[in-house]
Amino acid sequence: MTADTLHAALAALLEGLPPSQASRAVDRLIANYRGTTPTDAPILRDRADVAAYAAYRMPATFEAVRTALDALAETADWKPTGHLDIGGGTGAAVWAARAVWPGARPTTVLDWSEAALALGRELAASDPELTTSVTWERARIGATAAPAQADLVTISYVLKELTEADRAAAVDAAARAATGAVVVIEPGTPDGYTRVIEARDRLIAAGLHIAAPCPHSAACPIVPGTDWCHFSARVSRSSLHRQVKSGSLPYEDEKFAYVAATRFPPEPARARVVRRPQIRKGQVLLDLCEAEGALTRTTVTKKHGARYKEARDVDWGDAWTPVD
Ligand SMILES: C[S@@+](CC[C@H](N)C(=O)[O-])C[C@H]1O[C@@H](n2cnc3c(N)ncnc32)[C@H](O)[C@@H]1O
Repeated sequence: MTADTLHAALAALLEGLPPSQASRAVDRLIANYRGTTPTDAPILRDRADVAAYAAYRMPATFEAVRTALDALAETADWKPTGHLDIGGGTGAAVWAARAVWPGARPTTVLDWSEAALALGRELAASDPELTTSVTWERARIGATAAPAQADLVTISYVLKELTEADRAAAVDAAARAATGAVVVIEPGTPDGYTRVIEARDRLIAAGLHIAAPCPHSAACPIVPGTDWCHFSARVSRSSLHRQVKSGSLPYEDEKFAYVAATRFPPEPARARVVRRPQIRKGQVLLDLCEAEGALTRTTVTKKHGARYKEARDVDWGDAWTPVD
């Protein structure tokens, strides 16, 4: 329902934007995000930039954040009473939190781009509860003022745009502000994973517990430089996607890395599926990160009975209870 409302609001937004202008703005955005992302001034400068971002990227960031928040929700009988979204832009994480935990909660979106905040407010106007519960506030990350406390704090697809010092400051500020949980989401690239691991270390140092995706708060077992932990969320392509990208697939897979940490002790998964399962004749191969802090591969065969059926249904990123 929430996702449908968001998609309808994004479609309406595109109707007001000439296709050539939207394509040019998307090209500029892609160049900025692929190259050395500027950290000294907003990339989202005007309405065309922001409308292009919202139409082109927001469905994907929404789906990635929703998947991360779903994983957090599975680890605790907890529903956030308030939400702070740092670098929240057009509000993808606000919509995602609402999809995972229905209902309105006092929410603040902080961002230095006035254009992004204005568009976020405009999109939220399509949902009466969001209209009244969300405050869109201009703020520069790394500035001295500490954000007000909130039960849930999200930092989604933002760390890449910050200097190293501001990245550390943003995560520490999130840890101080969060009375319940902090969730950090980044692109599922090797450097996105590195930023997530750095954030994870800072959250643990601040006394938080890792709830997801890791089944433990010990060091990540991946040897740096050899691999990266990331997941995938399926996203329906918008008309702008189809216009800008060639190819006929009606969807694409958004790769993302994330960490969710809680102030209260969570009940993390016993193990998490960290790659796409390989289904062979009569067996399923699962790559797992286990509660003991090790990466393992397990083979589930027909002789495991009901567990074999479960293994055939389990997906990359899902929790898994190891077969004894
Ligand atoms: C890639 S967008 C992500 C937006 C949103 N969180 C999402 O997941 O769709 C990055 C956002 O971070 C904001 N941002 C980047 N650097 C910032 C800074 N130093 N202070 C405040 N906001 C910043 C940008 O304006 C932009 O809205």
